[in-house]
Amino acid sequence: MPSPNLSWRDYHAATKHSLESLRRSSQGLDWANMPDPFRHYEGVPVLDLPADPPVPRAPAIEVLNGLSGGTRASDGAAFLSQLLFYSASISASKLVPSTGYRYALRVNPSSGNLHPTEFHFLTRGVQDWPDGLYHYRPSSHMAEQRALGAREITLGRSDAPIVFVLTSIAWREAWKYGERAYRYCLHDIGHAWQSLALAARAMGCEAVEIREFPDDEVARDCRLNADEWPMLIIEIRGRPVPLREPDLCETVWYGGQANQLSAETIEYPLIEAIHNATKVIRPGVSTQPSREGRGQIKLGEPASSERTFGAVVRTRRSALDFVGGAPSISLAQLSAILPAEGSHFIQLYLYAHRVDGLAPGVYRLWPGHAEVEQIQPGDQRVAAAGLSLGQALAGNACAAFSMIGDLESAFRAHGDRGYRYVHFEAGAIGQRLYLAAHALGLGATGIGAFYDDEVHRYLNITPEQGQVVYHFAIGYPVMDTRLNA
Ligand SMILES: Cc1cc2nc3c(=O)[nH]c(=O)nc-3n(C[C@H](O)[C@H](O)[C@H](O)COP(=O)(O)O)c2cc1C
Repeated sequence: MPSPNLSWRDYHAATKHSLESLRRSSQGLDWANMPDPFRHYEGVPVLDLPADPPVPRAPAIEVLNGLSGGTRASDGAAFLSQLLFYSASISASKLVPSTGYRYALRVNPSSGNLHPTEFHFLTRGVQDWPDGLYHYRPSSHMAEQRALGAREITLGRSDAPIVFVLTSIAWREAWKYGERAYRYCLHDIGHAWQSLALAARAMGCEAVEIREFPDDEVARDCRLNADEWPMLIIEIRGRPVPLREPDLCETVWYGGQANQLSAETIEYPLIEAIHNATKVIRPGVSTQPSREGRGQIKLGEPASSERTFGAVVRTRRSALDFVGGAPSISLAQLSAILPAEGSHFIQLYLYAHRVDGLAPGVYRLWPGHAEVEQIQPGDQRVAAAGLSLGQALAGNACAAFSMIGDLESAFRAHGDRGYRYVHFEAGAIGQRLYLAAHALGLGATGIGAFYDDEVHRYLNITPEQGQVVYHFAIGYPVMDTRLNA
């Protein structure tokens, strides 16, 4: 049993990949016990979200750079339908030819396509839509009404007309990834957060995230099933939200019976322990956003693209691999893909394989100045693939990335809860990389599997400087014959 005082350091160290840890954990998957990727709260009214909501037409690249779009949705159902269709819905399917098994893919990516994140939302005073608490049902693009009336549901004291609560079902990920799965749940929340925030912006609204809230109180407020943990609250506001006066009626609870996801749920004590450790909110010493530095190479003018936000989101996929012999990407494309602003806790390292104007090598990105600094010259294809647990896609890409998280600063600022925030940020950056790459006609893949300490040795960084929390790759995707087959 892990110590009751387990800290983020213990959890992180215990869930690092190494040759030895992989040898120890090389057991097969129990397919018969695979958790259902869809949660339903049974026995509650289910409200239709209109099909084929309008496409957000603002160019995706510009939305990523802060442009606010608009919406033609004039009532609550149409507004919510559009928001969810472009942030959380099913967008494609794949068929395994040998078994005939077909499975759904969503607009947001998820490690192993296991989708630990659930979307709940509270509405108050949204036109032609009853105030209440809802759970989004992606399998049929509908809203399960868990409560009618929202007066008594406080959700961290937010007064926004629409308030999302993103929850994690850790068992869904742990079924495949064991104790390391908590990291992936956090990444997933980061992806879902950006998915929602960018869809809101493409519709002309603002999304404000609330990371600090009393977890147990919010779980009680939403009457979540015990296997669902609230992780992030996101308020949606802005003029395009169609409004009316809120109802003042008392809340009527339907609640609903959560479906059982698999025959047996296996306990993962380290996940329980890190989750409990990160529930505690402790005021700390706030830190400067990521360190300052300069590089020798200017990224220059970013490439542009007119592809609409709607089209990019609906066609986003993870590349299974990249075409190793394909052409390079331009520096302008790279410049458009990389985040224009520094993040609080993440620093990006780039393994440039085929980028015009950048000699093959490892580079550190200094976003404040749109510059990169070479820290290692030479061909990085074998190293990038090797560090990513031998996954060829990190070597066949045009560019691969290590996201280095400043876990120590996060801890100083937020206690163990900071561990969540670093991973949320990494997932959020990943989501933006996906959309930017797709806007430019390229492919992308998030990579959660890497040899942690090998990455640190290779990049010559100490734990005090940061630790690797996510990998990523961008390039020309190989054809995926299973897609929509
Ligand atoms: C946090 C995270 C980690 C991932 N890790 C890997 C990985 O190590 N290797 C890989 O090939 N794909 C990885 N993926 C991609 C998922 O497998 C992919 O998102 C999922 O199969 C769904 O496919 P889609 O993105 O096309 O919807 C990862 C995705 C996320 C969000």
